[in-house]
Amino acid sequence: MHIIFFNSKGGVSKSTLCEYTAQELQRLGYSVNVDNTDQQQHVTLIENEEADYFVYDTAGAFTSDNLELLKAAADANVLIIVPLNTGKNDLKEIPFIAEKLNELGLKDKTRFVFTKTRPNSKSLTERRITLAEFGLTSINWVMPMLDDFSEQRNTARTRNEILAFLHELVL
Ligand SMILES: Nc1ncnc2c1ncn2[C@@H]1O[C@H](COP(=O)(O)OP(=O)(O)OP(=O)(O)O)[C@@H](O)[C@H]1O
Ligand SMILES: [Mg+2]
Repeated sequence: MHIIFFNSKGGVSKSTLCEYTAQELQRLGYSVNVDNTDQQQHVTLIENEEADYFVYDTAGAFTSDNLELLKAAADANVLIIVPLNTGKNDLKEIPFIAEKLNELGLKDKTRFVFTKTRPNSKSLTERRITLAEFGLTSINWVMPMLDDFSEQRNTARTRNEILAFLHELVL
């Protein structure tokens, strides 16, 4: 299975989630291939053509590389994860992403994940409603604000959070 972390906006935790997803899948005994379309290369790349999971980090924009990857995804066993914050600028991005996903026939393969967010905040509830209005699905798991995510440490709390994410999505 392929997992693509995408959002047309930057700084929403695409790379962090991608890196931790790859790590945790490996800890669970799965083999992973890690690739990216981001020239800044924020993830540790792993090449393994026989991998159980192929995970992709992407640059935060509709670049030609991203479009190519997303077009290829239409016919593949793929899950597109869109990390999203709850700010006003993030809200503006939703109609645009929805339109593109529609065009590419990828809506059903896409799940939105709220990041750096308090699980029960009012803005979170509002954003979930907005997504639903566009026919988009958000998962229950919310990536909390955590120090170790930014410092790339491996505490039990971080591992448990990512495990919960993977259980809801792929395992
Ligand atoms: N849950 C979190 N809690 C605290 N800090 C976080 C969390 N997730 C990500 N960060 C930090 O926020 C910043 C942006 O995260 P990240 O690089 O993963 O985003 P991105 O979407 O890949 O950004 P870009 O579009 O620039 O590639 C980083 O400094 C990262 O360490
Ligand atoms: Mg990144």
